[in-house]
Amino acid sequence: MKFSRAFLFASAVAGELLTQDKAEADIKTDELQRVLWNLNKIARDNGGTRAFGTPGYKASVDFILERVQTRFAKQLDTFVQPFNWTYDETLKISVTGPAGENVFVISPQYNPSTPLPGGITASLINTPVNDETGSMCLPEQWEGIDATGKLALIKRGTCAVSDKLKLAKAHGALGVILYNQAPGTDYATPTLGAENIGLLIPVGIIPLEVGTAWIARLAAGEDVKVNLLVDAVSEQRESWNIISETKEGDPNKVVMVGAHLDSVQEGPGINDDGSGTAAILEIAGSIKKYRGFPHKIRFGWWGAEENGLVGSYYYTEHLTPAEADKIKYYFNYDMIASPFPKYEISSYENSGVGPSLLEEYIESKGKTVEYAEFDGRSDYAGFVDLGIPVAGLFTGDGAPWDPCYHQACDDIDNINWEGFTINAKAAARALARVANDLSGVPPRLTTTPNLRGRAKMTQNFKQWEKRSEGASHTHMCSHGSKLNVF
Ligand SMILES: *[C@@H]1O[C@H](CO)[C@@H](O)[C@H](O)[C@H]1NC(C)=O
Ligand SMILES: [Zn+2]
Repeated sequence: MKFSRAFLFASAVAGELLTQDKAEADIKTDELQRVLWNLNKIARDNGGTRAFGTPGYKASVDFILERVQTRFAKQLDTFVQPFNWTYDETLKISVTGPAGENVFVISPQYNPSTPLPGGITASLINTPVNDETGSMCLPEQWEGIDATGKLALIKRGTCAVSDKLKLAKAHGALGVILYNQAPGTDYATPTLGAENIGLLIPVGIIPLEVGTAWIARLAAGEDVKVNLLVDAVSEQRESWNIISETKEGDPNKVVMVGAHLDSVQEGPGINDDGSGTAAILEIAGSIKKYRGFPHKIRFGWWGAEENGLVGSYYYTEHLTPAEADKIKYYFNYDMIASPFPKYEISSYENSGVGPSLLEEYIESKGKTVEYAEFDGRSDYAGFVDLGIPVAGLFTGDGAPWDPCYHQACDDIDNINWEGFTINAKAAARALARVANDLSGVPPRLTTTPNLRGRAKMTQNFKQWEKRSEGASHTHMCSHGSKLNVF
């Protein structure tokens, strides 16, 4: 009886109709802040990350569930959708130069292990540079080069690292020493791609300065012997999407909103994508107070986005055509609080009214909106593949928008609170509009050429699963999408 007053209050509010103005007013900067503070703490308590396959991700799931499944249980139905994916982590990497000196080195995601404990000690073989096409990623660039038993010294840049490694392997190399294309040691971690598990040789990425010095010694006829050691884990781990939908609304007319819940291994992921996660959680907290909206609202927190949009693809791949038909719109929010934000609306040819709903509000706050074509780098990709109308917001990654992108400094201090609040309110308004009224929303494109893309993705899933199973069995003692593959 302790709660009767609160209950009466709640039920009185629960009778109200959802409007765009109410949804907007419910989004408050200090509540968004509270959510991000929690996610930041979760990362801090779990080794600085909330990445797929880590305890920080599990704790992030529990945090969202404590709200949607416990606190919002009267108004929302929540499902946890499990899936498996290959967890990859480089536990140790070293490059040791000819005089026994330790060289600065980074490891790409999905780097295979060298033999352990010794690694590979072998002579370097230099390879030609082509900054226009990228170095050593075209078969003809390898003509006449025999790298048998050697470590191939290759310049980074322009083309996928995995292509360089495949060709180096085909030409007999035991491993690759990749030197960066720009000076210094502040360079990004690329991914070799889960689709290449089992097909590559180990690689270490060293500074341009070191590469240049070794090239000079090789040119002088010296035998430059180097050691490369990579100790990596590659194994299947379970992960989860959280799907939460209103009891209110027609189950045959669903409007969806999503954000990814995972971070990269390198950091706590507070802008990427704590911001989208917090925005849709606060929107759920608003929506649950209202009734009478004709369309069901479904929230999705996706897992393993940073590993190649894995969770959202898993979700869209497992929808039947009838289930896909019921989803009338999908809004995606990924990185909506960059410290120096642009206000970029992502859309596709059949986005309909979504982008203009977002634009209207953001421009009313005095911000200039930019438009970007759908580029497949976030969780809307699987929805586009299904022909479902999508729109999203994005405030920029890397300099000048988010210099802490995919780094340990993407923490609670890496947020533009004004921009974040504007975007979250815009998202709340847009969702409230389509929850009440689907005018301006085009039908699902069932003839889109992307449906072929969908079939291809299904194939990829099966292949990757098979190969990664293979990889974890041989277990050689043994980081979308925003995927930087160069
Ligand atoms: C994930 O893998 C585990 C262990 O192999 C298995 O028991 C489980 O059914 C798998 N889950 C899914 C969703 O495939
Ligand atoms: Zn992201």
